[in-house]
Amino acid sequence: MDSAVAARSFLAALCGERPVHRPIWLMRQAGRYLPEYQAVRARHSFVRMCQTPELACEITLQPVRRFGFDAAILFNDILVPLEPLGTSFVFTEEGPRLEHPVRDEADMAALRTFDPREELGYVAEAVRLIRRELVGTPLIGFAGAPFTLAAYLVEGGGSKDHRRIKTLMYRRPELFAALLAKLADTVASYLRMQIEAGADAVQLFDSWAGVLAPADYARFELPAVQRIFAALADTGAPRLLFVKGGASHLESAVQSGADALSLDWTVDLAGAAPWLGGLPVQGNLDPLALYAEPAEIARRAHAVCRAGDAAAGHVFNLGHGILPDTPLAGVEALVEAVHAYRTEDVLRLAGETHRDGDPRRGREHRQGSGS
Ligand code: CP3
Repeated sequence: MDSAVAARSFLAALCGERPVHRPIWLMRQAGRYLPEYQAVRARHSFVRMCQTPELACEITLQPVRRFGFDAAILFNDILVPLEPLGTSFVFTEEGPRLEHPVRDEADMAALRTFDPREELGYVAEAVRLIRRELVGTPLIGFAGAPFTLAAYLVEGGGSKDHRRIKTLMYRRPELFAALLAKLADTVASYLRMQIEAGADAVQLFDSWAGVLAPADYARFELPAVQRIFAALADTGAPRLLFVKGGASHLESAVQSGADALSLDWTVDLAGAAPWLGGLPVQGNLDPLALYAEPAEIARRAHAVCRAGDAAAGHVFNLGHGILPDTPLAGVEALVEAVHAYRTEDVLRLAGETHRDGDPRRGREHRQGSGS
């Protein structure tokens, strides 16, 4: 793929244009399903890979080289800013584990305020390095959204029922709101650093938003997300919001100040389009669809593109991160299908079908005229 085409298509779609070439990138595209990632990972710990700009740069570029994605996403993790906040973590077989989860008011008061340029300077360095290497292809920076980060901080890792963070919300709503505000300020300065270093767009990952009732999302998480996006308004970089479980939170997401929304596969993009406040969308194929046969992947990818045509702009993505054992052939089939999709062809075909007399339409027409 010509990288100039890639650059234009991704940023243009986010501005509500309709580039002929449908842009595609995948959440967690830099990761374990790639043999070249596994080769680097065999020699280094995950945390060391995040902290070494040359390694982060190499891993960021791997999926773009292999598949010709239209955007790169910085290799890093949403948990990285938790360390300078004062809670280190390790990755175990079961996922991330925090060494000192935040459990009470004193733990919360002990969370540090830090300058990301000083304590996460290696992330800015990785962005600068990638920017130099990645001529023409846009780079997406990212951070966890406040509720998702708070859930990890308070639960101490992943959780089945989010009992601790929800108990905090129900029993100490003012403390919960203060924690989200604190995380919002941390994330805003962290994302600003990434943009200043060269990120072309930034995405907030709200992977756990779906466990909140819509009214609680609107009351607690929405103001925190608005705080982040308002703080970045002057940068001009597109601000993207991924809300897992977003079907319940669409109304809030539209009010968040995001320039585009990233939705999971439980939302029908065409049906949701009138409720998107004119915002472009990213999404939203089920990551498990990549385990299907290539022809089925193409069929489903085109259905997502067609649904995306109803929105103000569409960037193809999965509805959540790509899974570690995803077949590479599935990803190849997906990229090929998305890049082959042409809105005008669909419109023309629809027109021809109509003119040539689609039997179903004909029947409807006859029934209509007969009554
Ligand atoms: O998208 C990309 O390719 C950029 C890199 C990226 C990673 N994590 C690399 C990673 C991004 C954007 C993330 C985001 C992230 N991290 C989220 C939000 C998106 C989502 O999937 O919901 C969350 C919740 C995390 C937290 C996290 N990091 C978990 C739960 C785990 C372990 C299990 C898992 O899903 O991988 C990680 C580890 C992690 N982050 C790996 C990678 C490549 C695997 C590390 C390894 O090699 O062992």
